[in-house]
Amino acid sequence: MRKYLIAANWKMNKTPSESIEFLHDLQKKLTNQEKGEILICPPYTSIYAMIQYTDNFNVHIGAQDVHWENDGAYTGKISCRMLKELNCEYVIIGHSEQRTYFYETDETVNKKVMKVLEYKMTPIICVGETLQERELKKEKEVVTNQLKKGLQNLRADQEIVIAYEPVWAIGTGKNATPEQAQEMHKLIRELLQDMFNKEFAEKTRIIYGGSLKPENSKEIFSQPDIDGGLIGGASLKVDSYYSILKSVDEL
Ligand code: PGA
Repeated sequence: MRKYLIAANWKMNKTPSESIEFLHDLQKKLTNQEKGEILICPPYTSIYAMIQYTDNFNVHIGAQDVHWENDGAYTGKISCRMLKELNCEYVIIGHSEQRTYFYETDETVNKKVMKVLEYKMTPIICVGETLQERELKKEKEVVTNQLKKGLQNLRADQEIVIAYEPVWAIGTGKNATPEQAQEMHKLIRELLQDMFNKEFAEKTRIIYGGSLKPENSKEIFSQPDIDGGLIGGASLKVDSYYSILKSVDEL
């Protein structure tokens, strides 16, 4: 059984004190009976304080990006070595905002994925087509290519998470329909089976992202190949993040 992953991608939001305030409020709501795995990916500046705070309760912390080198003259960058020392557990790689604004390519995605795995953290690899690509009916080809290049040299005994995020659904309020999302998730799982093996395809979590909110999360999570969500806007408020987390328990 794959455990649902309810991952908050805070993007460039919240100072360290605001991040701790969120955890404090979330902690008050948690019953510890929630079935979904709770993951929050704050800005780098909040990671240390949040990991200290979550020591005693079941919230995992991840980063939103990383560089593929261990150290060196890369002004403004953060390495896996640094994240690992903080006990960071997950790293988002290849988010469409990185691909669009910061020159992320499938090659850099692959280098980052391999480095994150070397440091025994779990990469969350984002893939997804643009509106234009979908209109040209190229969405399957685009996602297949991103995965084939992004997952090169990976071994079937390693743990990854895939996030399918159609670019046209991110931050736009337009989510994919549950059927559209399921169709792509199924394709991704079949691809993982072809590239690795059945066991790998069965154990790997494939989460959906793009305008997930309490109003649509239950329906999306009820699809057989959808194992949770990567949530941007709706993860910034405790109430809406917690409602999305609770929707897993209602399935
Ligand atoms: P959104 O962002 O939920 O605000 O659409 C999702 C993401 O970019 O990961």
